Amino acid sequence: LATIEVDISNIPPGICVSYKWRGKPLFIKHRTENEINVEANTPLSLLRDPQTPEQRMVKQEWLVVIGICTHLGCVPIPNTGDYVGGFYCPCHGSHYDNAGRTRRGPAPLNLEVPVHKFISDTQLLVG
Ligand code: FES
Repeated sequence: LATIEVDISNIPPGICVSYKWRGKPLFIKHRTENEINVEANTPLSLLRDPQTPEQRMVKQEWLVVIGICTHLGCVPIPNTGDYVGGFYCPCHGSHYDNAGRTRRGPAPLNLEVPVHKFISDTQLLVG
């Protein structure tokens, strides 16, 4: 399917759910208030691929990314690694923060954010 519609009403804060979309893993992560605050206060100067959370997320509570490491394409593991609520790729040790931004290890770029929009408070459309 070109687009996928996801009911996000059952995803509690802190949880990241994976879906399959266009043959790729799609991560939808409900960020907690603490996770949002931590990354809102991360200076862009610390980032290899500088992007603010606002540039990456339509709503700060919801991170939507393709679950493919930008190093060599493994699937990172949500809610692990050195950054609170972030992602860790075990293949060669890349760490991403909870905004899906590369922070440590060989991954050169942030996790890709696909086109998405909220069609209601509980329905997300990706693609
Ligand atoms: Fe993820 Fe190499 S593929 S760190």
